[in-house]
This record gives sequence, structure tokens and C-alpha cells, in this order.
Amino acid sequence: MADYRQTYQRSISDPEGFWRDAATGVSWHVPPTRILDDSEAPIFRWFPGAELNTCYNALDRHVDGGRAEQPALIHDSPVTGVTRTYSYRELRDRVAVFAGALRRLGVARGDRVVIYMAMVPETVIAMLACARLGAVHSVVFGGFGARELAARIDDARPKVIVAASCGLETGRVIAYQPMLDAALRQAAHSPDHCVLLQRPEQPATLRPGRDLSWADAVAGAQPAECVPVLATDPLYILYTSGTTGRPKGVVRDNGGHAVALRWSMGNIFGVRPGEVFWAASDVGWVVGHSYIVYAPLLTGATTVLYEGRPVGTPDAGAFWRVAAQHRVVSMFTAPTALRAIRREDPDGKHLHGYDLRALRLLFLAGERLDPQTYHWAGDLLGVPVIDNWWQTETGWPIAASPRGVEELPTKPGSPSVPMPGYRVRVVDESGADVPPGVEGAIVLELPLPPGCLPTLWRDDERYVRSYLCTHQGNYLTGDGGRFDADGYLYVLGRTDDVINVAGHRLSTGAMEEVLAAHPAVAECAVIGVHDPLTGQAPRAFVVLKAGADASGLEADLLGRVRAQIGPVAALRRVDVVAALPKTRSGKILRGTMRGIADGTDTPVPSTIEDPAVLEALRPLLR
Ligand code: COA
Ligand code: AMP
Repeated sequence: MADYRQTYQRSISDPEGFWRDAATGVSWHVPPTRILDDSEAPIFRWFPGAELNTCYNALDRHVDGGRAEQPALIHDSPVTGVTRTYSYRELRDRVAVFAGALRRLGVARGDRVVIYMAMVPETVIAMLACARLGAVHSVVFGGFGARELAARIDDARPKVIVAASCGLETGRVIAYQPMLDAALRQAAHSPDHCVLLQRPEQPATLRPGRDLSWADAVAGAQPAECVPVLATDPLYILYTSGTTGRPKGVVRDNGGHAVALRWSMGNIFGVRPGEVFWAASDVGWVVGHSYIVYAPLLTGATTVLYEGRPVGTPDAGAFWRVAAQHRVVSMFTAPTALRAIRREDPDGKHLHGYDLRALRLLFLAGERLDPQTYHWAGDLLGVPVIDNWWQTETGWPIAASPRGVEELPTKPGSPSVPMPGYRVRVVDESGADVPPGVEGAIVLELPLPPGCLPTLWRDDERYVRSYLCTHQGNYLTGDGGRFDADGYLYVLGRTDDVINVAGHRLSTGAMEEVLAAHPAVAECAVIGVHDPLTGQAPRAFVVLKAGADASGLEADLLGRVRAQIGPVAALRRVDVVAALPKTRSGKILRGTMRGIADGTDTPVPSTIEDPAVLEALRPLLR
């Protein structure tokens, strides 16, 4: 086994050599000759001029290389009672046919396809079909509502939308078509077609001319070949929450992404070709994109697509059942999911009877891993628990313990050490490095390694403004934290208005926009407060316009947020208050409010306009 420090040092002192070597893990149509293009810094591109096809690397390469009959994808769906395995050959054939169907609908290289679906194999098939054609997919998480979907449709301007007729939540069917229709009414852009996967639990009513069923779309479609694209061409856009209501279109390229994810699967997650990996996330999030779909398939491993919950489908043993049944060697989930299991089954009684001897490692990410959950999971499963820190923008871990490189000791509360290519710094307001033990903003020195966003979709200016302007030459992660004396990083939370609820990244700004649009609301503030299960939970405070009627207002506001942003926003409480605490320049003191709610001793800024307003709010916040 190599040594972490040596590996990391090489990635920093000779990044081009490091990633040139890593690029041999991928099949190229035109192999890279140049590794990094810095001619348009601060926008960097990896492997300029090289050509490949990501779908070829994820499927055809393994079919041709002797893995045709190996399971590629296991769909395990306790909500429908179905478990179905797709071999690499079968998945490749289905993807080729659906790519042919998209092509028949006019989708070609560079066109966008929005995918609004549930945790079904067709979602993976649609993503890979886009990759096969060189088209750009943009998956929208099923828990998002009409407004969020409309914003993504208007930004990505898809030629086709692929949607499921419904999603299945525990004991409930959620029709997606009404959300799709509402989004299309709100959006300025109209796709040429919508392809609807008719699920028997609630089929959709198709609109003639616009909609066709998945079955009709694929009937008679000619399988499509893999279209070579530039390494620097976009593979997908994944929208993520920023501080404003307008989501950010994170772009992922083809070449850097394939190289980085292929490297990460073996070297960080310790998974070898032929083994079974399970990321219990949702394909609508970056964890799902990277570690349900692309990394395991690029590696020739078997991936599990789980359409269920940690609890309630049917019980708190569901995760152990899946891991045992499919002989998962390494699994990945969010700390919230484990807290949900622990709440129902603190002693792990549901573990009994399941043979988890194949399981070697448990990876956790998506939110801060509290030491209690870290210890509980490690003690229960008897395997190392690996916290890893990253974000939609980076696509793969910034900090982790790279299990395929070296078995470094882990420390509770820390996602361990920087991964190759990431020059992680903790800085003060002036941009100077702070010593170990001192908190600051976590930034990444440019260039970011392959796999990270090269820019935002058709908005270089916003990319530079949002991420690169605060500390010149560095990417601002939006997280605060510190290093310890051993070089272990501790990530302490967002320093902006992004919140993390049950591992879901949400924008308080987007919720505020919905609340502020209500005719009775004069102004409002949404903050994320500590929650023992979900990490954070949103709370809203509204000030009414003079003479406005507050009766029925809370239910109305909660309903609006649910319909427009989606149930995933999980806003459960709105308080009507007389005024919001502000600075003299009119900025609402959200950080101070959050500090009071979380019981941390956040000092009240000297610039506060009227301390009495904050004092009036204190009892509500505590
Ligand atoms: N489609 C439609 N609705 C969805 C949805 C989807 N894909 N995902 C979530 N929702 C809905 C839920 O049904 C729920 O609706 P409700 O308010 O009517 O009950 C709401 O959105 C909030 O969902 P959630 O945040 O998941 O809370 P929960 O109380 O239903 O479940 C957990 C709690 C802990 C079990 C769940 O949040 C969980 O499994 N978290 C793990 C998160 C994770 O894997 N994150 C990925 C990053 S790695
Ligand atoms: P997302 O883009 O949805 O993956 O969310 C990214 C954000 O989640 C990060 O900026 C962090 O705030 C938080 N996050 C993810 N993983 C971790 C982790 N291991 N520890 C602490 N915070 C995390």
C-alpha cells in the first residue's frame, strides 16, 4: 500500500504527473496530451483536447472487457417489493436503446435533458443515455416542488424532460405530474417533449403532442452508439442551493470527472472491480450522481439503487438487510440516516440475523458527523467509520481517510485529511493562514483538482463572483473550520445562509423569497437551527404588513413553501414577530438569531440598530 503523505505530496508538487497517471484508469478516444489548461485562469480545464465517452467507460468498456454478465445495478425497492438486478450487458443495452429514443426526439450532443424522477433504474438509464449521446443531463431531486423545478428548466433550457409519473414515499404515492405541469406553467422555457415513465402505482395523464410514455419512446428505437466528446465538454449540470433563491448550476465535465471518480473509488472508498458498493443517498444529490451512478460503474463494481428509507421500510433494520443481502463491501450514507435508525433501535437489535461479514467500511458525509453517531455506528458494525467532507461543487471528497492508499487513524469530529489535488487552507478575513487550532474560513487554492466544477452553467461571471472573489487565487467553500496539529481538518458548518437539513442542502434565501411573496408579509427571516435528528431545521420569522390578518397565516405560508420549494424544505414552524433584529445598515442579524437558538454564545454586534428587538425575540428563539 502506498503512503498517504507521499501520494498527497506528489499531487501537490507534480499535479500534472499525478493526474496524467490517474488518467490511465479511463479509456480515451483521444488520450490526453495536455493535462491542465490554465490559459483562462481562474477558470481551469483538465485534459484539454482529449476525447472520451463517459457512458462507454461506465458500461461498454466492462461489457467488452469480460464483465458483461456481472451485476452492474441492483434496484432494491422495499416500497414496491421488487428487487431486480441488471448485468452490465443488460444495462448497456437498455441505455443504448433509451439513447436512441432521445435521439429520435431530437436530442444531440450538447443538448440538455432534465430528469425529474424517483429512485428507479430508469433514472440511471436516462442519465447514462444522455452521457452516451454527449447530451447534458440535469437531474432534479424528486423532493423539490414546482418553483425549484421551473428555475432549473429555465436555466438549463432542456430539449426533453424525462419524468416519472410518481414517487413512492413510505406508505404514500406522490404524483410528480402536477408538479411538472405547474413548473412548466411557471417556466418561460418549454421543452419539445416530456417522456413520462408510467409507474403502475399512479400513471400520469399524457398530454398529446407534448408527452409520450417511456414505453412508447423506446418502442422501435435504434440503439445509439457512444458519441465521443471533449474531456472539457459538460456531462451534467446539478443545481445546488446558494445564498440567494436562484440555484447555482454546477457544471461537471466528462474527462476530469471520469478520472477523479475512478481514482476515488479504489483509493478513497477501497472498492475494487467486481465488488458491491452501496451509497444510500438519492440520485438527485451529488452523492447519488457520483457514488450511486458514476464512480461504481466507471470502476466495474456493482452499485445498489435503494428505493426506501433507513426506517419504516419496513423497520430500522432495512440498511442491514440491504447490506447483507447484496454482500455490500463498502457503504455510504448521511449521519441523519444513522440517527434515524438509532432513535428507533438504539441497541441495534435489528442487526441480529444479518450477515455483514462482507462489509469493510462505512462512509458518512453530507453534513457534520457528530462524535456520538460516529461511535454508535462504529461500535455497532465493528468497521471503520469514515467521515468525508465535500460538496456538490467538488463532486468527490475534499477531505477523507483514503482507505485504498493508507489506513490512517480516524478522529471523531474530523473528516481526516485533504485528498490529492486539494490544497486546503484555513484563513482569516484577510486571507492569511491561521495556525492549527484556530477557526477560519476553509478555502481551496486554485486550481481545483479534476472532477470539481470548472464553472457554473453559462455563467462564468457568477462562478467567479460567488466562489473566487473573496480570497484571490482561492475557491471559497462556504464552510468554516480548523486544522489540528496533526493536519486533520474539522469542518464546523456553513458560514453563509445555506443550511443542511437531513443531509439535504437548502437555501434559506429561497424560503424567504416564497414567504416574502405572501401579501400579508412585510419582511421575514429564515434561519437553520440545531435539530437532534436532522442536524439543522429551518425556522421562519415574519413581520406582517400593517393591518394584515394573521389568522390561518402559518398554515398558508407552510403550504406555499411546501408546494413551491418542495416537501424537502421541511419548514414546520413560522412565528409572527413584531420586528426583526437588524444592523444600523438594515442587515437582518440571522447569525445572531441562530446563535441564540443553538445556545452558542454569539456576541451581539455593536452595529445592532435596536437591542430591544433582539431581546423581545430571545424567548422565542431559545
Ligand atoms: N420525493 C418526494 N418527496 C420527498 C422525497 C422525494 N424524493 N424525499 C423526501 N421527500 C419528502 C418526505 O416524504 C417528507 O415529506 P413529509 O413532510 O410529507 O413527511 C419531506 O420530504 C421531508 O423529508 P426528509 O427530510 O427525508 O424527512 P423524513 O422525516 O421524511 O425522513 C430521514 C427523515 C432521516 C429518514 C431522512 O431524511 C433520510 O433518510 N435522510 C438521509 C438523507 C440522505 O441520504 N441525504 C443524501 C445526502 S448523502
Ligand atoms: P452538498 O453540496 O449538498 O453536498 O452539501 C455540501 C455541504 O454539506 C458542505 O458545504 C458542508 O456544509 C456540508 N457537509 C458535507 N459533508 C460534510 C462533512 N463530512 N462534515 C461537515 N459538513 C459536511
